[in-house]
Amino acid sequence: MIKLPGLIDPHVHLREPGATHKEDFDSGTSAALAGGFTMVLAMPNTKPPIFDSTTLELALDAAKQKARCDYGQYIGAGPENVEIAASLAGKVAGLKMYLDSTFGELRLDDMSLWMPHFEKFPQSAPMVMHSESRTMAAAILFASIYNRPIHIAHISLKEEILLIKAAKEKGIKVTCEVCPHHLFLSKDDIPAISSGHPGRGEVRPRLAAKEDVDSLWENLDVIDCFATDHAPHTIEEKDGENPPPGFPGLETALPLLLTAVDLGRLTLDDLIEKMYVNPRKIFNLPEQPETWVEVDEDASYEVKASEQFTRCNWTPFEGWKVKGKIRKVVLRGQPAFEDGKILAGPGAGKNIR
Ligand code: NCD
Ligand code: ZN
Repeated sequence: MIKLPGLIDPHVHLREPGATHKEDFDSGTSAALAGGFTMVLAMPNTKPPIFDSTTLELALDAAKQKARCDYGQYIGAGPENVEIAASLAGKVAGLKMYLDSTFGELRLDDMSLWMPHFEKFPQSAPMVMHSESRTMAAAILFASIYNRPIHIAHISLKEEILLIKAAKEKGIKVTCEVCPHHLFLSKDDIPAISSGHPGRGEVRPRLAAKEDVDSLWENLDVIDCFATDHAPHTIEEKDGENPPPGFPGLETALPLLLTAVDLGRLTLDDLIEKMYVNPRKIFNLPEQPETWVEVDEDASYEVKASEQFTRCNWTPFEGWKVKGKIRKVVLRGQPAFEDGKILAGPGAGKNIR
């Protein structure tokens, strides 16, 4: 049995308000606990999006009643909420800037719309970018010009990890996260994931080439965090017309990474650094006293969507054999998950801000 700290996922979509048939603070934080996470940071691309104090209260009220693990809520950067976002910095996980197109309405196309957020959002509060490829290069230039830290969400490409490495060497304050699906899947896996339903392979950033995946593994030291980008959409939506992009990930991240530890692809210390130590530092997160995760590192099992707590009812890792089973999660001295059962009640989770 190994004991890990309560893990932190700085990138989840819990779909509340507005799409609770996909997930809500209850089902999403249950999935988090079952996956060994005791703290999650929720993205703002909900319906309505979280972009001012009224919408922030909508999400925080729901979270307060329903969350079973600790949580923070991001605010989205829009064209007209610069002052409001800056004034709410102390109440949110951070500012999320959508600089490339993805699921939801939040998007800042024009670079002149990025500038006021860089000028006004407090230097000490986290700023997270959805920025792919050359957009990511532009975001790093902004970090350099405005001399403030930025965190790049879900990098997936060789060109991205190499540029972040070079930027860090120059002293630019940039950190990054990688999702398990970009470490364990490439675009060659899309036919197997899809099994005749191409929508199941859709995710942003898209699954990349084998060469990109290899490059992420070769540059593990450049990766600050592992984040799931848990983006649940129901299997009916994934198999329907206009399938939305996104994979669930909260319940598969730790077993997949523990399996990689078993294979010698990374160390347990790497895992703790990227799923606890670094996210705490980058996002200024409080300590959770008497909080830990117990894992049976020798137990092997098969991933099954039918055994998951996420409401979306599917996983791109269906049938995968993994080694490392989460037995118990303790949050602030109270058992929160044990042997497949959620023990923490709705409302047990606290707002980290
Ligand atoms: C995310 C979603 O569904 O909210 N989808 C995805 O493919 N990752 C949006 C996002 O994070 O880009
Ligand atoms: Zn996301």
